[in-house]
Amino acid sequence: MKIFSTVAELHASSGNQNKRRILVPTMGALHAGHISLIRLARENAGKDGEVAVSIFVNPLQFEPGADFSRYPRPESADAEACRAEGVDVLFRPVPNEMYADDRSTYVEETILSERLCGASRPGHFRGVCTVVTKLFHLLEPQAAVFGEKDFQQLAIIRRLVRDLDFPVEIIAGPTIREPDGLAFSSRNQYLNAEERAQAPVLRVALLEAAQSRENSSARILTTVRTKIESAPLARIDYAEIVSADDLQPRLTIEPRSLLAVAVFFGKTRLIDNIHLG
Ligand code: PAJ
Repeated sequence: MKIFSTVAELHASSGNQNKRRILVPTMGALHAGHISLIRLARENAGKDGEVAVSIFVNPLQFEPGADFSRYPRPESADAEACRAEGVDVLFRPVPNEMYADDRSTYVEETILSERLCGASRPGHFRGVCTVVTKLFHLLEPQAAVFGEKDFQQLAIIRRLVRDLDFPVEIIAGPTIREPDGLAFSSRNQYLNAEERAQAPVLRVALLEAAQSRENSSARILTTVRTKIESAPLARIDYAEIVSADDLQPRLTIEPRSLLAVAVFFGKTRLIDNIHLG
């Protein structure tokens, strides 16, 4: 596995131009969800292609006062996990490699980013679009893998690629979960024991909604909210039914309807979603 921590090192090594390269962008603290994306990338790369993983805790996508400095950075465990998965290229830049102090150029998607997670995290998706654009330029992948857990991020990246003509195929990976249904997330480790015990209510509420034969979004959302609020430590940020493509609200269940929730447990905000219809 080749490890690059500077842009210059990456450029100096650009000797594999004709190999198919699949990129898995991450912020590290790798868990089973990330590993599943790396495996999907490996399948997609084929035996002659290569898998590249980036690990970069991107300061631009953390709102002021958010958890940027305490975000976990288990560097050697992450490198070991990549090596064990047969990753070919690990790009692990330091922050001042990615952003000049006087940076003044950003990439912003202006419609899908406004709602859902974007409403409670202003500037977040601008940070994501800017860093993903840079990673696409630096690593020049033919395809990149993103998780469905972050459905809004996935929809925005697809829009970014379409609108700015990136020659990068976007591959979606399913959400990987703990045995009790809680989606793996680097932020799960912030939960205390009581919060962790109540967090699977998200999955229970989403599954109940998917199994119901109800067609009215409003009625489904009432049931989902009641279920989630039955956990005393849960505080709902949003619960919405939207189109998985343009993220616009849907009043009734149709194909590609997505039920998405964001819920605080203490200071930790968890998200999850499920397809309906
Ligand atoms: P991060 O939160 O590290 O997630 C990296 C990728 O893993 C994302 O595509 C995310 O959707 C996926 N992922 C997270 N949890 C998952 C789970 N339980 N199952 C399957 N996939 C999961 O998302 C980011 O980093 C950043 O915003 C990034 C795209 C790297 C830009 O900085």
